[in-house]
Parts: sequence; structure tokens; C-alpha cells
Amino acid sequence: MVQVQALGISPRALSQHMTDPLKEQPSYVTTHAGRAGTDHDRKVPEIDLLSPLTIRGVTFRNRIAMSPMCQYSGQDGFADDWHLVHLGSRAVGGAALVIVEATAVTADGRISPGDLGIWKDLHIEPLGRIAQFLQSQGAVAGIQLAHAGRKASCDLPWKGGESLKTPQAGGWPVVGPSPVRFSEGSPMPIPLDESGIEGIINSFEAGARRALSAGFKVLEIHAAHGYLLHQFLSPLSNRRNDQYGGSLENRMRLLLRVVKGVRGLMPEELPLFVRISATDWAEGGWEIKQSIELATHLKALGVDLIDVSSGGMVPYARIPVAKGYQVPFARSIREGADIRTGAVGLITEPRHADEIVTGGDANLVFIAREMLREPYWALKAQQELGDDQAWPTQYGYALKRRAK
Ligand SMILES: Cc1cc2nc3c(=O)[nH]c(=O)nc-3n(C[C@H](O)[C@H](O)[C@H](O)COP(=O)(O)O)c2cc1C
Repeated sequence: MVQVQALGISPRALSQHMTDPLKEQPSYVTTHAGRAGTDHDRKVPEIDLLSPLTIRGVTFRNRIAMSPMCQYSGQDGFADDWHLVHLGSRAVGGAALVIVEATAVTADGRISPGDLGIWKDLHIEPLGRIAQFLQSQGAVAGIQLAHAGRKASCDLPWKGGESLKTPQAGGWPVVGPSPVRFSEGSPMPIPLDESGIEGIINSFEAGARRALSAGFKVLEIHAAHGYLLHQFLSPLSNRRNDQYGGSLENRMRLLLRVVKGVRGLMPEELPLFVRISATDWAEGGWEIKQSIELATHLKALGVDLIDVSSGGMVPYARIPVAKGYQVPFARSIREGADIRTGAVGLITEPRHADEIVTGGDANLVFIAREMLREPYWALKAQQELGDDQAWPTQYGYALKRRAK
């Protein structure tokens, strides 16, 4: 049985009030990992969806990740029982990696008042409870660190998601690289000055420290979907003429500084991912060639995997949404920058996900909405791909007994 490992974590990575869930598990807990990578005897490609993957000191029991998904259900940034059950079910359901939704590194970096946050130490404890539970179930606990920039200050999506333009409406001023709105109905962002930019970098670093002390083993920087770090990358939102705008090198500078800072404070054993939008799907915007160049720089700074999404920069983007439509970008970046990638977007069937891994398009497959429909998607994939289902002990014995 393959165990989730996060080896040799430095003491600073664990806060004093947390125990290491990998060392202290109650006896009823199982890591119910999938099959080992080297001892399966099927005449299939050596690496497939259900093979473990080791990055640095962390072993993922298979190649299935739960993609980060905002729940818009936090109060003042705090995670609660909803988040524990929402994320915990997918760990029970066999995912190798469960990534907590976009978690704001500053209060004004929230998309909505319901976003999770990690801008104060008090946020650590409820997040730590989630990380501990995920790992007790054999999943690796990941968290996405985010700042929404000009796309912040919106109402909850089930209330229409409109911009909250005034404090009376519950909104707050938004920041961005340049005074360019997301859409006509969006607030005009206040351009960040040098000290504002330093503040953003410090906030990502402080958020990363808190995430580590909460016990997360994978950190993902959110630089996709038109949020702040993506806003600096794209010429459609970045019109600066200082060292953070203009040339590609300048537009990449903020993200690269954030990544350098975060990587620098992470233990060697723990992986760092970056989610990007491979293309804006809009003329004059960010595109795949630049993504490959960015990924080359990210790799050099110690990023372990690029989680390849797309879009979100402008409302008028024309996106050819179809089954696996972003997978070719994951392949291009994997090949072009020689870095591990994750594929995401309309991947719903286990066989399709398996082909993505066996075909060499990506190293990990991220599932979002299909895991909302089917929390036990990874267990279903084990069955469909002809593997033993690795149920938690509490369920497994009962299901076997009933089969007799
Ligand atoms: C409800 C919901 C919330 C989302 N929140 C996030 C988020 O916090 N961070 C992020 O990078 N992507 C977010 N996404 C995008 C998903 O992670 C994923 O990239 C997208 O849904 C495409 O994958 P799918 O076709 O499997 O759903 C969200 C998607 C949904 C449906």
C-alpha cells in the first residue's frame, strides 16, 4: 500500500497547536491508497491514471486531483464545517490531491464576501482541521492562494454575482495593474504602486506561511482566470510602463517574484504548483507561446507543476468549450517547458482521464464539476479501469461482506 508521504517536514511547517496527522492517526483511520506503481501486472502503459506520483517528498496515491472550487460560504474568510465536509468527502472518495478553493491572501483580494481567506493567523486553525482530515484519508492536502485584483468585490454567484460597488452594498475598492475595468459593470481598479506591489508579494508569502502551519503539503499560486497575477501577465489588463508592464519580462515580474518568495519559504520536500490560463482566447491577449516561456521561468524557480486552465481575462473571450478542450495546452506546456502539468476542463470520464495520463498530455488530471456530481469519482474510476476499489476501512469491509 502506498502511503502519502511528506518527508522531513521542517518544524516551522507545523504550528505548535497542530499535530502531524501523518504520525498520529487513530487506529481506525486508513489511508486506503490505490495500487502501487511498480507491482501491477496489467499489460498497460507503465504509468496510468491510477499510478502513484511522487513530487519532491510527497507521494500522491493516483493521478486524480480535486480542482479548487470556491464555495462562497466563508464568514470573514473562515472555513467551517461545510468546507470540511465538501473537501473531506472527496478525500474519502479516493482523490489523491484535494485542493482548497481560491483562498484570499488579503481581505480585498476576495472575489466575494464569502471567499475563504488566509490573511490572518486566526484563519489557520479551521484550515488546519481540514488539512488534517484530508490527510487522515490518504489524500494530499493542497490549498490555492489567490488575489482577485480587479475581479474582487462581487456578490455571491447564486445572488447574481454582480459587482458590489459601494460599502453600503457590502463592496470594497479593488486594485489591479492599470485602470482598466473587467467589464462595463465592474469597478475601476486602483493601480497598484510600488509599495502596493511589495504588499501583494508580502501577503502571498504570509499566506503561504500560514498554509504551511495549517499542515498543507501542496501550495498552488492562482495566476489564472483573470485574477490579479494573471492581470499583470496579460496585455489586455496591464497597460503599465514601469518595470511591471510592457515587455513580457516585465509583465511576468510580479508572478515570478511571488513564486520566488513562496518557494523560498517552503520546505524542500513540499511541492509548489502554479495555475495559469494558457490563453486569454482574445486578440492581443496572453497566449500559449507566452505560457510556455512563463513555465520555463517558473520551473527554474522551483515550481513543480503547471495546472493548465484558460480564459477568465475578458468577458468577450470566445472559448471553444468541448470535452478536454484545454488538454492540448497542458501537453504543449509539458513538452515546451519540460515541466509536469495538470490537465483540467470538461474531463468527466475515467477512461478519458486515463488516456490523458497514458498519452503523456499531463501528469495529473484535475476534476471539478464532475466531482460535485460524484464525490467518489476516484473510486468509480478504480472500478471502471478494472482496479480494486480502495474504500475506507469503515465502508470496505461492509461492502465486501455484502457481496458474498
Ligand atoms: C463552483 C466552481 C468554483 C470554482 N472555483 C475555482 C477556484 O477557486 N479556483 C480555480 O482556480 N478554479 C476554480 N474553478 C474552476 C475549476 O477549478 C475548473 O478549472 C473548471 O470548473 C473546469 O473544470 P471542470 O470542467 O472539471 O468543471 C471553479 C469552478 C466551479 C464550477
